[in-house]
Amino acid sequence: MTGPELAEAALLLAAARRPVVFTGAGMSAESGVPTFRDAQTGLWRRYDPQELATPAAFRADPALVWGWYETRRRGVRRAEPNPGHRAVAAIAARLPETVVITQNVDDLHERGGVPAPVRLHGSLFAPRCSACARPAPLPSDLPPSAGPPEPHDGAEPHDGAESHAPEAHDGPLDPPACADCGAPVRPGVVWFGEALPSAALDAAVEAASGCDLLLTVGTSALVHPAAEIPLVAARLGAPVVQVNPVPTPLDAICAVNLRGPAGEVLPALVRAAWPDDAVG
Ligand code: APR
Repeated sequence: MTGPELAEAALLLAAARRPVVFTGAGMSAESGVPTFRDAQTGLWRRYDPQELATPAAFRADPALVWGWYETRRRGVRRAEPNPGHRAVAAIAARLPETVVITQNVDDLHERGGVPAPVRLHGSLFAPRCSACARPAPLPSDLPPSAGPPEPHDGAEPHDGAESHAPEAHDGPLDPPACADCGAPVRPGVVWFGEALPSAALDAAVEAASGCDLLLTVGTSALVHPAAEIPLVAARLGAPVVQVNPVPTPLDAICAVNLRGPAGEVLPALVRAAWPDDAVG
């Protein structure tokens, strides 16, 4: 990230009235939540996340997939929002028409001060029946772990949050049975090969179509249709500002590329956009 690029992005943000903030796994990396494509650790090292996050994987081995998501959910529970999440909340507080759209299944935007992000890929905290779709209660949590996961810079493959404080139940775990029909309960996330929730997708497309700035943060922009959201904004003439330590397929459509971790770049961007505000 260089000064001129930050200044250019800050001008765009300060002029915006209806920004969209579009976030991916990199947004939560500095909270210690592993990005989806990061190396897995411990028991899970043997598995490719892209092969666990499918309906076929759940049908073939529900305990394996449920156990993986429970491990991830407990890791998120131990994590805290980072300064990037708080900077997004500061943008939303400054510009009330801001729409935050996330591909993340953690709850760090909410805990960081954005009460209702548009969730394109569901949530780790909304399990439902795999057959009748009835919402299911969250399993009661295990005793609190030793402490929060260690933060990291997020730019390199790293040990995941789950691995810092492995717990007794870290591994395959039978999913609960639905109270209505007895079928296995599944995580309330969108798996590869599944449709995105249509209300969320419609809300995201509408916001991207009407925005006057799209800030894309911490996404590899490889997973469609979510990755099309910044393209929708760009096609309709909104400037796109990207925050990511490394290049992505979105680089070419971006007005400004801010190379760096979200937890540092976003607070700096907020401070540069509104130097007189005590936020960020
Ligand atoms: N700050 C900003 N960006 C970061 C940081 C950081 N500290 N650390 C890593 N990144 C970037 C990486 O460079 C990468 O481009 O975050 C991106 C993470 O990419 P993915 O792991 O592919 O995550 P994401 O784009 O959210 O994946 C989309 O794919 O697997 C599915 O459903 C899953 O929602 C996920 C979707």
